[in-house]
Amino acid sequence: MLTSSEAWTGEAWVEKLGRMGRIETLQWDAENPQLVSRMMADLDRLEAAGWALSGAILAAGTFPEAPLGTWTAANLEATWRLNLGFPFLCAQALAPRLLSGSCLQILLDTSVHRPWLKRLPYGAAKAGQASLVPGLAQLLAPSVRVVGHALGTLLPAKDSDPAFLAERTLLKRLGNPADLCRAVRYAADSPFLTGEILTLDGGRRWL
Ligand SMILES: NC(=O)c1ccc[n+]([C@@H]2O[C@H](COP(=O)([O-])OP(=O)(O)OC[C@H]3O[C@@H](n4cnc5c(N)ncnc54)[C@H](OP(=O)(O)O)[C@@H]3O)[C@@H](O)[C@H]2O)c1
Repeated sequence: MLTSSEAWTGEAWVEKLGRMGRIETLQWDAENPQLVSRMMADLDRLEAAGWALSGAILAAGTFPEAPLGTWTAANLEATWRLNLGFPFLCAQALAPRLLSGSCLQILLDTSVHRPWLKRLPYGAAKAGQASLVPGLAQLLAPSVRVVGHALGTLLPAKDSDPAFLAERTLLKRLGNPADLCRAVRYAADSPFLTGEILTLDGGRRWL
């Protein structure tokens, strides 16, 4: 099951996935005032259609530059709505539907260790998600495990310098989607792991 704030109807990569197995796409937009009822209705419909959820990964996020001096009530709320409120609401909706033994995984940022100074509101949202991980792990145990991933740069933002970011890691490279896939697979397959945040940043936080 995949979610997006936009409809993916007709997208080639979704159709390709559909040929490999059964797939449902749900349109969950953090900006939708009816978001919670929409999530509940979608999940009820899936359950009635025989779907069972054996895991979930919360990946939604934006990476807005917001230096000191540019903060407004409106732009702070927008950043926190998507990067903090939305994962909380998704976790709440999904938690009672997850099968026993499932792992709920949340994508955080290595900024939970060392803040991005031009992006403090984003970092604050990720820090909030970092407290969600152990809290939710306690609330959902022993049935469901919860794991966070504090990611360094895997896909650099358009305005960033990949060489500079790679230099600022111990391993002198950026991450890539395969690095994240291995970590997600490890968390899903590790029944003694819960409440932890795995850092996957090439050692950036130690520099
Ligand atoms: N890229 C990196 O190197 C990196 C580094 C550290 C942490 N992370 C974290 O990893 C996660 C994924 O990052 P990414 O680089 O893959 O970002 P991305 O390509 O921009 O994807 C962001 C996701 O957020 C969703 N989204 C955007 N606006 C939304 C809205 N209004 N309502 C619901 N969903 C919305 C997008 O879905 P649609 O566009 O389909 O709506 C998309 O699935 C984020 O949580 C990010 O903080 C990424």
